[in-house]
Amino acid sequence: MGLPHTTVLIFGLLCVFQPSHSSSDNDFTKVRAVNLGGWLVVEGWIKPALFDGIPNGDMLDGTQVQLKSVGVQKYVSAAGGGGGSVAVDQDVASSWETFKLWRVSDSEFQFRSLSGQFLTRSNDDVISATTDSPGDSETFFIERNNSLLHIKLLNGSYLQVTNNNQFTSNYRSQPGWGDGMATFEMTIVANYLHGDYQLANGYGPVQAKSVLTEHRKSFVTVKDFHLLSQSKINAVRIPVGWWIAYDPDPPAPFVGGSLDNLDRAFHWAQ
Ligand SMILES: *[C@@H]1O[C@H](CO)[C@@H](O)[C@H](O)[C@H]1NC(C)=O
Ligand SMILES: *[C@@H]1O[C@H](CO)[C@@H](O)[C@H](O)[C@H]1NC(C)=O
Repeated sequence: MGLPHTTVLIFGLLCVFQPSHSSSDNDFTKVRAVNLGGWLVVEGWIKPALFDGIPNGDMLDGTQVQLKSVGVQKYVSAAGGGGGSVAVDQDVASSWETFKLWRVSDSEFQFRSLSGQFLTRSNDDVISATTDSPGDSETFFIERNNSLLHIKLLNGSYLQVTNNNQFTSNYRSQPGWGDGMATFEMTIVANYLHGDYQLANGYGPVQAKSVLTEHRKSFVTVKDFHLLSQSKINAVRIPVGWWIAYDPDPPAPFVGGSLDNLDRAFHWAQ
């Protein structure tokens, strides 16, 4: 007598069901299923080690940070939560002092204020939070020493605080770590997003492809299906991401290939 057929159920934004057939030689009166999470959709809490190789891995896309000037011991604050001026004048950090990182590369970031505008440089040297969609003028290079940052513009100048608590973009020489006016202490307030987007964006396209290809190949294998089948499990649920619909070329930064692995799962299930 053959092993019971395993039926693959797929959930995700793309929902495909292969209902179990009633067949004479298998008892499908009960569905006994397991969830194969963390395989074709990455979940940081299931396999944290996947993220270990990411440079500045505590600054993934979506991380929320606060910046305190070392020189004046005040927080960078977007007045009204964004849409206007920015000053370095707050003793206590709350939502107006919290910025969400948009990660461009491991050393280039954009800072999104509470109400959605990005920190931007303007021609008069003063930083404001007035741009809705970020580009070069909203992209900053980070130089890092643990929690300390120097924040540099693409033209080479650094951000600094002035004696009257303005946030300006005209520090022209290379600051040292003891140079408080151009050094900011970063506090990470929230860093809970650890999915396929953060992983692929964090590693960049080439390394993300190799990390994900290896993970998908090894995290669930035909051996697991044998074991499940022996344990009388007759269904599995495999979460997939919406980007599987665009495989093999999903929009950046997502990495193609999950469809092939899903096909293999269907094959193993037979
Ligand atoms: C770089 O651009 C910023 C913002 O426009 C400006 O404040 C700064 O003086 C510029 N630096 C150089 C070296 O041109
Ligand atoms: C980091 O900053 C400290 C001062 O806060 C300094 O002594 C140290 O040399 C810096 N490290 C690097 C690698 O620059």
